[in-house]
Amino acid sequence: MLQAKLAADTPNTETMTTKPLLNVDKVTLRYKTPNLLITATENVSFSVDQSDRFVLLGPSGCGKSTLLKAIGGYMTPVTGRIEIKGQPVRKPGADRMMVFQEFDQLLPWKTVLENVMFPLTTARRLPRSEAEAIARDYIEKVKLTRAVDTYPHMLSGGMKQRVAIARGMAMQPDILLMDEPFAALDALTRRQMQDELLQLWEDTRFTVIFVTHSIAEAIKISNRILLLSPHPGRVKAEVRDVETVRDDPAAAAKLEQEIHHMLFAEQGHRE
Ligand SMILES: Nc1ncnc2c1ncn2[C@@H]1O[C@H](COP(=O)(O)OP(=O)(O)OP(=O)(O)O)[C@@H](O)[C@H]1O
Ligand SMILES: [Mg+2]
Repeated sequence: MLQAKLAADTPNTETMTTKPLLNVDKVTLRYKTPNLLITATENVSFSVDQSDRFVLLGPSGCGKSTLLKAIGGYMTPVTGRIEIKGQPVRKPGADRMMVFQEFDQLLPWKTVLENVMFPLTTARRLPRSEAEAIARDYIEKVKLTRAVDTYPHMLSGGMKQRVAIARGMAMQPDILLMDEPFAALDALTRRQMQDELLQLWEDTRFTVIFVTHSIAEAIKISNRILLLSPHPGRVKAEVRDVETVRDDPAAAAKLEQEIHHMLFAEQGHRE
């Protein structure tokens, strides 16, 4: 029997009583174009606790990236509130570091070491020697010590993503925001990166919000999954205790099917 709990459109009452690290409360996000008003998400609520590996999962256009942008402070909700540690998010901050899908998120004129040091010396204003020590530590954690003095154009896609992860983690943000960080990698590298991310989490227990539209990836890396439906993005359900099925292939496959059904039943079939 599946141990992971699938609860349709249920607010997380367990974490409502304790204070969540992040609270997203009835958030509606819109884009204004010259002749269109696009509602990307409507009335979305969820909360993230310390050390959660929280996945936002849903089909293209359900507002995953838009939600991350709003949590990152790059967009203001039309209605609702986003709070971190009880404080409203008003602008971007070093407490929320982003990792994107694109391989070009590194500064091409800086080495691996300099890329990881950059936010430490600018946003954190650490002295160079301190920033370098921290950067080298995180570069080692992502297994890139040998590439420390190379430039981004000399790295594979997977290596570039490792640098971006090291750069984000080195800042020790309250939350690491990852927008499909492995989606542009080949299948083998993607799997390896998922394993490495889990290993990093075992080591440091950071809090991460991870966006994906792969159900298998969501089950592999998360402890909680928020399912979103598109146009506009709304919360469909939340799956908790996902890790209880991770090492049980039959249970994981069953959960994958259930999630697929939840996400796509109304549309008929496709992922
Ligand atoms: N800059 C923008 N201007 C106008 N509309 C936008 C903009 N960015 C996103 N949208 C719209 O907002 C909605 C949600 O988009 P968003 O990029 O957040 O979806 P997503 O879930 O991240 O999709 P994907 O899986 O394809 O990355 C979509 O309808 C999209 O067209
Ligand atoms: Mg997106």
